[in-house]
Amino acid sequence: MCGIVGVVGKSARDIILNGLTNLEYRGYDSAGIYLNDQNGHEYLTKAVGRISNLKEKLTPDEQGLVGIGHTRWATHGKPTVDNAHPHFDETKRFYLVHNGVIENYAELKKKYLQGVKFHSDTDTEAVVQLVGKIARDKNLDGFSAFKEALKLVKGSYAFLLIDNTEPDHVFIAKNKSPMMLGIGDGFNIIASDAISVLDQTKTFVDLQDGDVGDITKDSYTIETVDGKKVDREPHVLNIDPNAASKGAYEFYMLKEIDEQPGVMRHISQDYLDENNGTKVDPKIVDAVAQSDRIYILAAGTSYHAGLVGKQLFEKYSDVPVEVGLASEFGYHFPKLSKKPFFIFLSQSGETADSRVVLKQVNERHLPSLTMTNVEGSTLSREATYTMLLEAGPEIAVASTKAYTAQIAVQAVLAKAVGEKKGVQEAKDFNLKHQLALAAEGMQQLVDGKEHIDDLAKKYLADTRNAFYIGRGIDYAVALEGALKLKEVSYIQTEGFAAAELKHGTIALIEKDTPVIALINDPATADLTRGNIREVEARGANVMVFAGKKFAQEGDDVVLPDIDYCLSPLLTIIPAQLLAYYASKNKGLDVDKPRNLAKSVTVE
Ligand code: AGP
Repeated sequence: MCGIVGVVGKSARDIILNGLTNLEYRGYDSAGIYLNDQNGHEYLTKAVGRISNLKEKLTPDEQGLVGIGHTRWATHGKPTVDNAHPHFDETKRFYLVHNGVIENYAELKKKYLQGVKFHSDTDTEAVVQLVGKIARDKNLDGFSAFKEALKLVKGSYAFLLIDNTEPDHVFIAKNKSPMMLGIGDGFNIIASDAISVLDQTKTFVDLQDGDVGDITKDSYTIETVDGKKVDREPHVLNIDPNAASKGAYEFYMLKEIDEQPGVMRHISQDYLDENNGTKVDPKIVDAVAQSDRIYILAAGTSYHAGLVGKQLFEKYSDVPVEVGLASEFGYHFPKLSKKPFFIFLSQSGETADSRVVLKQVNERHLPSLTMTNVEGSTLSREATYTMLLEAGPEIAVASTKAYTAQIAVQAVLAKAVGEKKGVQEAKDFNLKHQLALAAEGMQQLVDGKEHIDDLAKKYLADTRNAFYIGRGIDYAVALEGALKLKEVSYIQTEGFAAAELKHGTIALIEKDTPVIALINDPATADLTRGNIREVEARGANVMVFAGKKFAQEGDDVVLPDIDYCLSPLLTIIPAQLLAYYASKNKGLDVDKPRNLAKSVTVE
């Protein structure tokens, strides 16, 4: 999960640095930039840490009309200057940046690069050294040597390569890692995603796996590694550049939490008509309606949204649902039903663990749908069908509005399929009204954020651990609340089925252990109150987030009324805010937590 930017035909330095800053959410443990002024001067600068450290190291004369840059999330080799990209071959002719993982780099080094002097521990360096060696041994131009090398490389990659003997070209190659080619006026630009360079152009070319390209300031050629020309047409992306900016917010995470009422309204407008009729591609509805089991595959927060989706589809579409962790499912396929339908939930649409499953689903010629927030993303393009979350760019590493959007869009599909099958609950499901309630309830909860900040200060300032507990659908929310808190505040937090705690884990409860209890489930509300008493008896500090129907005097947050299966849309809001304030109050970088990246494109 690294970020890459390349420019040819325009003063490249600031464009690359700005693009990398916009891509820092993808990885930020080291960074580097190569610039060439196409007049015999070239510059290579690298730094550990954030892009700001790289900017400080650059001198004013380091400029160029062609350049490549990289912000790294380390996979092979510690975050050091030597391991930072761009990497170069031993003759310092070729410079390469890479996002992905080269699976056979050790084999390449052993088989083709004996005696070559390496300067890093990275897998990437093996590729650029291979390009250099092939170019020298076979007396080839840069692009030809690059294509020859790619025939030997196995793994995922988005490569940008510069040959300093031809500094008016950037050579590119894509396989499994995201890359977009932007078409400018008198220049061209390549980046990991379109949003990061929207200030330069809105015209892009969707690159596919297996594409290799030769980019100049006013042309682009896309081929296969065997040199077969491939036609890739440019198109205009209508994304609002302002949507991807922080505005008055200190952190994207709070901005994106606050945007959730608007996202609910947007989804309602996009997917429901004024009479509560669903607006979903009939081909998708028919395909799901014909299935005898839905398999929802995802990772992290999206997996937690899938757990809520299970309740929605089973109630409103009357179809059994299995929710799986993509990383497990991908290598241990269960015995499938006779007519399975696969739904992939992925904010980024680039998660490698999910792509492994989709590849096998496609190989088995089974129908699939990707629900994603990124138009044109890999999971979106490779699935049979796609539905967009319409949540607007989500920049903070911790996913918030994409989670609630995934729940809302699953509810739309569940209703549409149920109506197709004549399920009475679906016909009675006034989703238009429920999403309006969700928007209003969310607004009320985000307006009460100061209270959540007080809870964070009171209960989470000095703790090393915490628990979320809930039953029924609240158990799914407890898992998501726990993930939010731990990933941005580094407080070891577990989400637990409330009754399960007493089967061993309650041994961890001691004086002042924070426990957040969620109560929306009519069938078990009283039982959860009993579980609260059990942990209080052992010294826990309990915060209660309860639906209005179940709220009692002293509860910390009362959640507005909403359909039970949609209650996670509201319960998660105080949990998101609690995580935000716990992190902010500790002085952490809420948007870019340590060790994480926004799009996990490695397995
Ligand atoms: C969410 O807060 C996490 N950053 C992470 O778990 C994320 O949900 C997961 O990596 C899946 O990403 P995706 O939705 O883009 O597939």
